[in-house]
Amino acid sequence: MLFRSTLAIVFITVALSLVFEAGMSTGTMSDPQTFLYFAYGSNMLKERLQLKNPSATVQCVAKLQDYKLVFGNHKGVVSKHWRGGVASIEPSGRDSVWGVVWRINTAHLTNLDRQEGVRSGVYSPASVKVSCQGHTFTCRTYIMNSRVQAPPSPHYLKVIMMGAEQNGLPKAYQDKLNSTETNKYDGPLPMMDKVYAALKNSKNGST
Ligand SMILES: *[C@@H]1O[C@H](CO)[C@@H](O)[C@H](O)[C@H]1NC(C)=O
Repeated sequence: MLFRSTLAIVFITVALSLVFEAGMSTGTMSDPQTFLYFAYGSNMLKERLQLKNPSATVQCVAKLQDYKLVFGNHKGVVSKHWRGGVASIEPSGRDSVWGVVWRINTAHLTNLDRQEGVRSGVYSPASVKVSCQGHTFTCRTYIMNSRVQAPPSPHYLKVIMMGAEQNGLPKAYQDKLNSTETNKYDGPLPMMDKVYAALKNSKNGST
């Protein structure tokens, strides 16, 4: 009798964990404590994202089909952080955008929204389906409102490229990023100093 109920418990535990794992790997089972965020711009770089979102961990590198990466400024107002156009995405058949899927504590969702200027209407949150090694994940992402096309500063593009390299995005996509035209801004950029300081910290083994 004892043996039989132990067996039943073991069986149920194994069955439950299989169901749980299957759910996690396809992203269908939602974890109430975390959400998935698809980053395609400077937030692909771990140290940049973790400046404001320390709980973020990489879920996978993923592709968003039928969108393209674009640069610009909300209502034409140049980003004071980056001194040039910043990244957004827009629907475009035949194109695709590569990015990093981050898992972030739900408690930090408002941090991320604030960073993306949701309240002031710079970006709006959107839900996209991205694919990653045969799995589909539904993720939060952000799309710029009233975007006026503008090239990025070399620094901002560099941060995106560092994130692409750090996460091993396809080489062809990295090359495409590298061929993006910039505005050749070469003045001071305090945001870049913050990113370099964070990179230096993480190299010194604080994580
Ligand atoms: C970007 O392109 C330039 C030449 O256009 C090349 O010198 C450089 O190594 C490239 N950088 C990366 C990260 O691929």
